Amino acid sequence: MTHRLIQTEDGSCTIYVPELDEHYHSIHGAIQESRHIFIQAGLIHYLSHPPQSFSATSPLNILEAGFGTGLNAYLTLLESERLGIPINYHSLEKYPLTTPEITVLDYPEQLGQTDRSLFQKLHHTPWNTASRITPFFQLRKYHQDFREITFRETFDLVYFDAFNPKVQPHLWTPEVLERFAQALKAGGILVTYCVKGSVKQALRASGMTLRRLPGPPGKREMLRATKQA
Ligand SMILES: C[S@@+](CC[C@H](N)C(=O)[O-])C[C@H]1O[C@@H](n2cnc3c(N)ncnc32)[C@H](O)[C@@H]1O
Repeated sequence: MTHRLIQTEDGSCTIYVPELDEHYHSIHGAIQESRHIFIQAGLIHYLSHPPQSFSATSPLNILEAGFGTGLNAYLTLLESERLGIPINYHSLEKYPLTTPEITVLDYPEQLGQTDRSLFQKLHHTPWNTASRITPFFQLRKYHQDFREITFRETFDLVYFDAFNPKVQPHLWTPEVLERFAQALKAGGILVTYCVKGSVKQALRASGMTLRRLPGPPGKREMLRATKQA
């Protein structure tokens, strides 16, 4: 697939995929969108409303569908450092970006980080093996189709960040969504930008309680699904 780097309205970049006529993030603001959906409505919400089983001393287990530019992983790493929360981050990606594509991503600069090395480290750690990026943040990237992976552990949080079901409906089927719901611990949450009816129906059928929330600028709503205890 060919990729084109573009600048979004908050000044941060994203990638446009001409074959799909689809962007990796919102054109209204890539960093703004990731922060709103995955960090604020996902990670921060979970930490401020943890299920009874949550223990702050064991690492939080996060699963991401679609590693892409590594923006969600990077924002999560920065939060783990800021809050002093240990996180084991697992991310699935079928089509990794190339080194030249990674090099031009401007997220550390946009986020006021003078040192790009942690962002580079997220991308350059080997696939399919756990790597410690910082004392608080461990990353395991799987170079794999996320529909085919067998989950060997359970997760506190899922960031479901596949391309839009309008262009890739096969990634949002009831079977795929049920597998991600099953991979969650009781009380765990899944966050996504997508509020499509069939997606909500599939998540409900998988034992999730849904909450529609205001979306980031340019998007009316987003979804947070909680696995019933
Ligand atoms: C919306 S972008 C994800 C953006 C990413 N979370 C980020 O922070 O940049 C969707 C990602 O899913 C990946 N993808 C597409 N099909 C996939 C599949 N079957 N299995 C795993 N990843 C897939 C794409 O290559 C792309 O990186």
